[in-house]
Amino acid sequence: MSTTPSLRGSVAADDVARMAADLAATRARTLKLVAHLSTADLERQIDPILSPLAWDLGHIAAYEDLWCVHRHAGLDLLHGDLAAVYDAFETPRAVRGDLDILGHAASVQYLDDVRARTLRAMQTHGVDPVIHEMVLQHELQHTETMRQAMEVAGLLPAGDGLRTELPRTLGGVHHPTGGWLDLDAGSFTMGAGPDVFAYDNERPQHQVHVPAFRIARRPVTNASWLTFTEGGGYVRREWWSDEGWAWKEDQDINGDRAVADVAAAPPGAPVCHISWFEADAFARSVGARLPTEAEWERAARRTAASAGPAALDGVGRVWEWTSTEFDGYPGFAPHPYREYSEVFFRQGYRVLRGGSWAADPRVTTRTFRNWDLPQRSQIFAGVRLAADRPASHPNPESGS
Ligand code: AVJ
Ligand code: FE
Repeated sequence: MSTTPSLRGSVAADDVARMAADLAATRARTLKLVAHLSTADLERQIDPILSPLAWDLGHIAAYEDLWCVHRHAGLDLLHGDLAAVYDAFETPRAVRGDLDILGHAASVQYLDDVRARTLRAMQTHGVDPVIHEMVLQHELQHTETMRQAMEVAGLLPAGDGLRTELPRTLGGVHHPTGGWLDLDAGSFTMGAGPDVFAYDNERPQHQVHVPAFRIARRPVTNASWLTFTEGGGYVRREWWSDEGWAWKEDQDINGDRAVADVAAAPPGAPVCHISWFEADAFARSVGARLPTEAEWERAARRTAASAGPAALDGVGRVWEWTSTEFDGYPGFAPHPYREYSEVFFRQGYRVLRGGSWAADPRVTTRTFRNWDLPQRSQIFAGVRLAADRPASHPNPESGS
């Protein structure tokens, strides 16, 4: 299979039935997520950097209609008049509250109407392995964005959220790393292989040489984060980058968290809603740094191939900031549309890896790349530390 799979689909009846069932299961979870919300809460803009929840619903429908009906089967859009309103690139989040978007009931109807068209198009044109998987994962990605808005507004359903403590507490819950995992210098294959579904930004696979480094066994806990804030984390200039300090001063960021109250959270659970600037300052405060994206993937691949003391703990609880700016891999080719990744390259976005409690494992593979701006904290992001390997302490047992 080439890196740009053909747009011709499979018409095999069981492929169609399987995809239809997966789409239905995802939709049931989307609707369940918002079932307890009032129309007013669905339609208001909760935060300037987040869309009204009803916008997400209409956008999910518009995206599915565009790809599964219009592009895949050649039919006209159901709501061509709404295409611009639900185009994420043409209509930035800050203005979505002022738009004439569909209301609560009309958005749900739009989802239903498009789904009927999608199923008919699958009967005639089959399943496209890229288009249908992309559309399904698009909905899963938007349910995480919706959870961000719901957390900011205090609207998450009971039982949702990040409560469970991490299993391993090497050095106690206040320890910033839970112990180091040491990796020797070496090359590895980075990115997604040609025969799996992956986004364009995960391709092409390429060899990367990574110098020796160490990475924390687990993400930073709430208890460890409190040690930082109470130890002058937001006052000690030397722990901050110039850019981070300027942002902190300008925005009056002082550790009082707008979203999650760290002191009230379980001490041994990963700290969440941390911006890149803060994560970077925390790392410096303990003489560490953030991992590069290549270091993260190398360690995660090793983890997948091993277990026990060589494994990273807590992957998938909170997104993990890396020091790497979002860009294409060497030989990048946009597919199937430029606005998924390419327009965000070299714009100051930082890469996050792993996944969060609010993300679906179908999306968050070991090669998946998330990205956001360094000042953002609405995402479910935490910190895993890394450091250079001290040359005087080679660790012959833990190389790979
Ligand atoms: C990969 C999470 C950064 O939300 O901007 C949703 C995913 N792309 N619709 C985003 C996405 C188009 C994207 N992130
Ligand atoms: Fe989208």
